[in-house]
Amino acid sequence: MTRLCAVDELDEDEILRVELDGGHGIAVYLLDGEIFATDDLCTHGEASLAEGEIEDGKIVCPFHLGSFDIRTGAACAAPCSIALKTYAVEIVDGAVHIAM
Ligand code: FES
Repeated sequence: MTRLCAVDELDEDEILRVELDGGHGIAVYLLDGEIFATDDLCTHGEASLAEGEIEDGKIVCPFHLGSFDIRTGAACAAPCSIALKTYAVEIVDGAVHIAM
C-alpha cells in the first residue's frame, strides 16, 4: 500500500494532488464524507485535474472542461472519452492509502 496523505488534510469538495515517487500524480477527493483517489492527469491532455472543479460528483478538467465521475472514473463529458484510473482507498491510522 502507498500512503497518500492524512485524512485531516482533506477538505470537502476540494482536491489534493499527491505526487508519488517517480512523479505519478494522484488526485484525492473528499466527497460527501467519502474519500476517493484517481489519477491526477486528465486522459485527454496534460492537465492536472486537481486544478479543476468538482461539480455534482464529477471532476471537471481545467483545460477543455471535459469531466469524469470521481467514484468510477467514467468519462462523462467531451472531449474526454477514456476513463480515468481510480484507486481503492484504505484508511490506516488516520492516513489515506491506495494499492498501486
Ligand atoms: Fe482535460 Fe482536455 S486536457 S479535457
